[in-house]
Amino acid sequence: EQYQISAPILHNQQLHGDYYQLDITAPAIARAAQPGQFIHVQLPAMPDHVLRRPFSIYDVNPTDGRLSIIYKVVGKGTEHISVLKPGTKLDILGPLGRGFSPLPGDIPSVIAAGGYGCAATFLLAKRARVLPTVLLGGRSAGDILLQDAYESLGCQVLVATDDGSAGAKGLVTELLERVLYEAPNSWIAACGPTPMLKAVGMIAESRKLNAEISLDRVMCCGMGACFACVIKRKANTPEKWAYARACSDGPVFKANDIWW
Ligand code: FES
Repeated sequence: EQYQISAPILHNQQLHGDYYQLDITAPAIARAAQPGQFIHVQLPAMPDHVLRRPFSIYDVNPTDGRLSIIYKVVGKGTEHISVLKPGTKLDILGPLGRGFSPLPGDIPSVIAAGGYGCAATFLLAKRARVLPTVLLGGRSAGDILLQDAYESLGCQVLVATDDGSAGAKGLVTELLERVLYEAPNSWIAACGPTPMLKAVGMIAESRKLNAEISLDRVMCCGMGACFACVIKRKANTPEKWAYARACSDGPVFKANDIWW
């Protein structure tokens, strides 16, 4: 079920650098949200701006109706969100999309996240019966987010950065290889930049592991109507692929189903 809510802002605060956390009150969406789903937010003072912006649901509190997202200021739209004050109401649509399957309780699982992709996988870890190992990657220390949040769930968190300014120097997929060396039958969930997700998909395919990935795409309608968000998915067609919509068929897909 989806809801359109005029949701007041509770907090809007800078985490560090260009990354912010926005908390709103949206009880119906907070109660219905599943890990990996997203909301579509209309920018209040920009009614004729791109219809809405999608944001992964980071965390929810079904009891008090709080819903949190993490965003990075990358342009006018997100810059505009970053200066909104508590009490401002945002027009929110959600929860949207197909999220992650629950993490299995009988085999180990690992979450691999690049940049603020770690927001999309947080609820998955929070609702896990057996805690996943969490791998956070980014260009440098400033791109590593939510390490404390995952650790406070009890997860073991490993960090990798391109420049070595936090954790190991290297890619999050190198950490994944290392974890799979110890726990070769792990279930994988991932969110981050496309090259990283492709690499995760290749690792999973070569080891015949289950991997689910959340694809980040430009979205206009968010509800399957405009085809702005299409990706290629393996299919029984002469081309061997067919278009799927990231917003409604995803954003979470089995890595093995993607035609890279
Ligand atoms: Fe419109 Fe996906 S955003 S179909």
